[in-house]
Formats: sequence, C-alpha cells, structure tokens
Amino acid sequence: MATYLEFIQQNEERDGVRFSWNVWPSSRLEATRMVVPLACLLTPLKERLDLPPVQYEPVLCSRPTCKAILNPLCQVDYRAKLWACNFCFQRNQFPPAYTGISEVNQPAELMPQFSTIEYVIQRGPQTPLVFLYVVDTCLEEEDLQALKESLQMSLSLLPPDALVGLITFGRMVQVHELSCEGISKSYVFRGTKDLTAKQIQDMLGLTKPAMPMQQARPQPQEHPFVSSRFLQPVYKIDMNLTDLLGELQRDPWPVTQGKRPLRSTGVALSIAVGLLEGTFPNTGARIMVFTGGPPTQGPGMVVGDELKVPIRSWHDIEKDNARFMKKATKHYEMLANRTATNGHCIDIYACALDQTGLLEMKCCANLTGGYMVMGDSFNTSLFKQTFQRIFSKDFNGDFRMAFGATLEVKTSRELKIAGAVGPCVSLNVKGPCVSENELGVGGTSQWKICGLDATSTLGIYFEVVNQHNAPIPQGGRGAIQFVTQYQHSSTQRRIRVTTIARNWADAQSQFKHIEAAFDQEAAAVLMARLGVFRAESEEGPDILRWLDRQLIRLCQKFGQYNKEDPTSFRLSDSFSLYPQFMFHLRRSPFLQVFNNSPDESSYYRHHFARQDLTQSLIMIQPILYSYSFHGPPEPVLLDSSSILADRILLMDTFFQIVIYFGETIAQWRKAGYQDIPEYENFKHLLQAPLDDAQEILQARFPMPRYINTEHGGSQARFLLSKVNPSQTHNNLYAWGQETGAPILTDDVSLQVFMDHLKKLAVSSAS
Ligand SMILES: *[C@@H]1O[C@H](CO)[C@@H](O)[C@H](O)[C@H]1NC(C)=O
Ligand SMILES: *[C@@H]1O[C@H](CO)[C@@H](O)[C@H](O)[C@H]1NC(C)=O
Ligand SMILES: *[C@@H]1O[C@H](CO)[C@@H](O)[C@H](O)[C@H]1NC(C)=O
Ligand SMILES: *[C@@H]1O[C@H](CO)[C@@H](O)[C@H](O)[C@H]1NC(C)=O
Ligand SMILES: [Zn+2]
Repeated sequence: MATYLEFIQQNEERDGVRFSWNVWPSSRLEATRMVVPLACLLTPLKERLDLPPVQYEPVLCSRPTCKAILNPLCQVDYRAKLWACNFCFQRNQFPPAYTGISEVNQPAELMPQFSTIEYVIQRGPQTPLVFLYVVDTCLEEEDLQALKESLQMSLSLLPPDALVGLITFGRMVQVHELSCEGISKSYVFRGTKDLTAKQIQDMLGLTKPAMPMQQARPQPQEHPFVSSRFLQPVYKIDMNLTDLLGELQRDPWPVTQGKRPLRSTGVALSIAVGLLEGTFPNTGARIMVFTGGPPTQGPGMVVGDELKVPIRSWHDIEKDNARFMKKATKHYEMLANRTATNGHCIDIYACALDQTGLLEMKCCANLTGGYMVMGDSFNTSLFKQTFQRIFSKDFNGDFRMAFGATLEVKTSRELKIAGAVGPCVSLNVKGPCVSENELGVGGTSQWKICGLDATSTLGIYFEVVNQHNAPIPQGGRGAIQFVTQYQHSSTQRRIRVTTIARNWADAQSQFKHIEAAFDQEAAAVLMARLGVFRAESEEGPDILRWLDRQLIRLCQKFGQYNKEDPTSFRLSDSFSLYPQFMFHLRRSPFLQVFNNSPDESSYYRHHFARQDLTQSLIMIQPILYSYSFHGPPEPVLLDSSSILADRILLMDTFFQIVIYFGETIAQWRKAGYQDIPEYENFKHLLQAPLDDAQEILQARFPMPRYINTEHGGSQARFLLSKVNPSQTHNNLYAWGQETGAPILTDDVSLQVFMDHLKKLAVSSAS
C-alpha cells in the first residue's frame, strides 16, 4: 500500500491535480467543519512526456445536460457495446467505430492510466498565431536600443507563418503598415482621445471590403485573413520589420525640465485591442505591451506629467488620494474584458526604476492569461532572457504557449462547483452542478483562459451537497471531470480530459482516514489563493484575521490536546507543516503591502495566482540552502539562527535569488584566499552556490532578480526580511481588542506565533 505522499505525487504527475483533501467528508456539514474547503489546484496543460495525443474525437454522454466524456471510471458492457456515464448514469451506445472493442481491446480512454488524455480535433480552420507588439518610444536611448534588439531577435523565434504587427506610442500612437513594397507608412492617432472599436477599424480601413494596397491575386495557400496590412506573416516581412524596428526613434516631442514624457499607453492599448477585435476574433493572439513608464495622458493615465507630483503610493490609496486610479483601472478593465471576449491575451513588460502603473493595468494580464514582467531596464538579462523564454519550445519542438482555452468542470451529484481563482474569466454557464456560494470567480461551471502554458494553474473550489441527515453512503466515490479545450501552438484544436475520483468517508467513524488524506501543501496554497483573491477588494487586516481564524479552527479540529493545556497540543504529520506555511504567508508580499509599491504588490500577486504548487510554495515559504566546510550543501530553516559567519546562504523566493556570504567567509574572500592554491577548496565553496543560482536563473520564468550580498551589505535586507526573526528582542504580540479575533501587531517569531496558536486552539473560549 502506497503512502499518501506517494499517492499525491503520482496523481499530480499523471493528472496535474492536487486536492486539499484526498478522502472526502460525506456531508455538507462535516465538510464545513473541516475548515479548509474541498478544493484542488489544477494545471490543465501540465507537460507530460508520456502523453501523445490521440488522433480522434472524444465520445460524449448522450444526455444533453451532461455530455461528460467517456473515461476509465465508466461501467462498460462490452457485449452489448454500452457504457454507463459515471456522472449521470445514462446508458450510452458506443459509436460505430468502437464495434471491435472488448476487455482485451480497449480504446485508450478506458484504460486507468489514461485518467488524463488529450484528443486532437481535426476539423475546423487552422488559423495562424498573431503577435502584436505595442512599443513605448518614450524610453531612454539605452532602453530603446536594447528593446529594439530584443524585438528584432524575437522575429527569428516566432513561428514563420505567425502574423506580426507593430504599434508604437509616445505622445501619439502610430499603427505601422507592414507592406513589402518598400514604402513604410503608418497611421497616426492622438493619444488623448479614446476611440471605439468601430472608429478604429474605420480609420484603419479595416471595414472596407477591398484592400487597395494588396496584390490583386492572393496566393492560394494563404489564409484569407492575411490581407490585413497591419499584420503580416513573419516569413514575408521579417527583413522589412527588422529594418523598421532598427529605425525606430525616441518620441520626437520635446520633454521640458520637470516634466514626464507624455505617454499614451491607454489609447495605444485600446487601438491594439480594437485592431485584433476587428480582424482576428477568437484566434490565438498576444498583444505584447512594452513600456518604460506610467501612462501620463488620455484615457488610462495614471499620473500627470508634473514630475513633482509622484505616482500614487499605498499611503495615497489608503487615504483615497490616488486621483487617477479608479478611472484608469476602469479603462484597462474594460479593455481586458473585451480582450477576453475576443479570446486574445495581453502581456505587459514594464521596465523602469519607478512604477509604471501595473496596479491599474494588471487586469489586462490577469483576466486574459497574459504574462507580466517587471524589471529595472530593458537592458538587463532579466528582461532579455525572460522575453526569450516566452518563445521556448517543449521536447516536441512546439511552443509552450497555448491559447483560447475553455475549462469546463463536471461533478458527480454529491458535489457542486463554488468557483475558481486563477488567470481566467467566467463564461457564466449555470447548471445543476454550480453552487450558489461563491469562492473566487463563481456562479459558473466554465471559465475562459485566453493564454496559458504548461505551468498555468487554477485553484478550483467545491462544495459537498448532501445534508447531514442524508449523507453519501460509504464505499462510494465522488468524481470530477476537467475538460480543457484549447488551441495548441501548432494551431491544432485539442481537448485535454482529466477524470478523477476520491472516496467518501464518514467524518465520525472514519475521521482518521480523512485526516491522513489531508494535503497540507495544496491546502496552504489554496487558502492563500483565496486570501490573495480577497486582498483585491478587502482591507489587509481583515484578511489576516480571516486566515488566523481559519487556522485556529483547523487546529481545534485536528489537534490533539487537553483543554486549557497548550503544552499538550500536537498535530499529526499530515498537518504539522501547515501552521508554518500560514506564518510565512502572513508575512509574505501577497498580504503585506507596506514594504512594496502598489505595482510590486500587483506583480507578486499576479504570479502567485497562476503558478503551480511547487512554485507557489516557494513564494509562500522561501527555500534556504547552506554551503559550508561542514558537509555538502543542505537546506536549512528559514530562520535567523541559520545565518552563521562561516556559511554561504542561497535563498530562493521565486522572485529573487539571494546569495549571502557570512561574515567570516566574506573576510576570507576579501583577503583573497580563493586565489591561493592551498585554499582551492575555499574557491570551490565560493563557486558552488553561484553555480546552483545560475541553474535556477536559467530555468525559471520570469527570470528572478539576482542579488549577491554579504554580511553587512545593504542588499542583505532581502534575506533578513524573509527569515523568521527568532533572535530579535521584538517578540511583542497582541490580539485585537474590539473584535476579539487574533491579529498580529508586530513582526513576531514563529515560536511566539506557535505558542499563541496553541493557547488559542486549546482554549475553550475561542
Ligand atoms: C547595455 O548594458 C551593457 C552592460 O551593462 C552595456 O555594455 C551596453 O552598452 C548597454 N547597451 C546600451 C544600448 O547602452
Ligand atoms: C522590403 O522588402 C522588399 C522586398 O523584399 C524590398 O524591396 C524593400 O526594399 C524592403 N523595404 C524596406 C523598407 O526595407
Ligand atoms: C468586466 O467584466 C466583469 C465581469 O463580467 C464586470 O463585472 C465588470 O464590471 C466589467 N468591467 C468593465 C469596466 O466593464
Ligand atoms: C484580477 O483582476 C481583477 C480585476 O482587477 C480582480 O478582481 C481579481 O481579483 C484579479 N485576480 C487576481 C488573481 O489577481
Ligand atoms: Zn452523463
């Protein structure tokens, strides 16, 4: 019998799912008492080396309200050629192509190892991918030069038949016509006036049936859409576009002393959205916005052009003093909504030392499944390599990006769907399996994910339906089917289907089973996602209070203790790490905003809400490795006691890789011991963490910020702010007075946090 840890790992590898609970409580009331909701993290397109897609279409249940897909959990009568749907119990005839099936001749979708299977849908037109570059020209010369080079380089990485287009913006917005005729023309728009999609299409001449600029006789193998003058296949215009990019100049309008450049980001994006809306609705397309500063005029402006008025801070937002924030957010939200409806995605690449308005623009990336990249400059390896990695290919030579996905969730009758948290929008599909109680984006059984890749992960939350007096009979299993339809980067339409089942258990007689089947890592990330989702609309302290309350209830339910005796408190192995995750989550940049700018908070939250479990856990509780002469490198506690003079530390927070040389090591290095032949092992010790850091930097998306510091260095704060402050004198801890609910008033140590948690858990008053 495999352990639960093995079971969880196998399921994650095969199906890309991690559930908070792997045995399910059999009534609604009992499920509520488990505190952590029944939920899962789903990575719909998890990369599977051993999953070649099948080249036929799925077989559907014939009940019109069900349409579940044939799967290994269905009962099959091979003699009568019938199968029973495991969701609605409908008996279905197999289609004619299945007449040859038998116990020994099963189609792949009935075999247990194909609980996840992918189908290639042959029919339907194949449309090319579209990449529309939207480029800020109000950059410093160095940034513009570096960005131009990255964009030129990217042309060689795009699929040759992909369509590409270019919009540039500064004070004005220019839509560049990409013709092969040798004349480069562009259409110029004012950056202060928003235009409707119709106006944009009229002005660009997209609504006229005949395209005078086009050759009279289009080549027959070409896609009929390829007649747009603004979007041309890469293979045709890569030379011309390379030249055009090379000739791009900084915005010619003079910027006077004490002013910001006038940047029309809001109108540029609106034109980009309108252009694709009119020409390529519902095809895979990326709008890629590259910007080096905040929008300063027109719709979507975030700050005025007076440099003496700084861009909004958390403090301004708290005091309701962020003048442009609401209006700008609304502008970008409206564009994001339209983009999601069109099935396109928006990436934001923001490189500047100051804020660029990610707070206002974030929904463009988060509602459309686009990427968000934040750096100091375009002339950094952080930007250059991150940008290049977008075009990386999988082991089949296909681009990792996928487009236009719809995720549909089907549940057996004992379950309902409460909602999802991730880079998705609701498709508002109601039905019997949709709960009225929403968690995240709810009220639907289907979501749209316009852009996704092999790591894009959604948190999906469920609700047990059965009432306490009519619990689900023991021995039964509940089932969930995830159906992801998407456009593969090869432009094929594909359907990935994952069908899973878990046992029901009575929460009284089988409490131990349920307890042992708790996945504390998944639970921590799923609770954190709910917290981050709420953080978008609620005050920070309210969310911390909510998380604290949930944690205390969980400890009361699953801890073993004698009443009023904190020292007796114990948690079983399957729960033992959970309080620590919550401790680090409370201190994380996802819930604590005041050490970060609003843009930084938006950036961190954006990535937290889309990464898979492993990466999310690193974000909650960074990993710390120690390198010393006392043995091989080893993981150590994320605690200030781990910072020793004769150690080198490597900390991975997902967003940063920090190397920290302890005091003695730093002195030896300064003295140059590494250059003395007798101390070659010291040289190796210095090199080892650097090599390991490189390995992470080369693999991660987006590329982390690399910080190399030492004892007393100014950058050491990156490490010091993350470790548990076990050795400070600052162990004040107080509980909120008015509400009676616990809340931290200062940065306390894990020990103090745990002591108070135990006290509250065993107290009969709380
Ligand atoms: C980009 O940075 C590198 C290294 O810092 C520098 O050598 C190079 O000149 C910069 N590029 C431009 C265009 O300034
Ligand atoms: C664009 O390409 C055409 C044909 O390859 C060439 O004749 C023309 O000079 C190019 N135009 C520019 C602006 O480079
Ligand atoms: C965007 O769509 C959501 C969901 O449909 C809606 O609640 C929101 O008001 C829309 N925002 C704007 C600015 O249209
Ligand atoms: C995405 O943006 C919308 C609109 O600003 C917000 O309501 C939602 O919580 C965001 N989701 C995440 C995961 O950040
Ligand atoms: Zn059915």
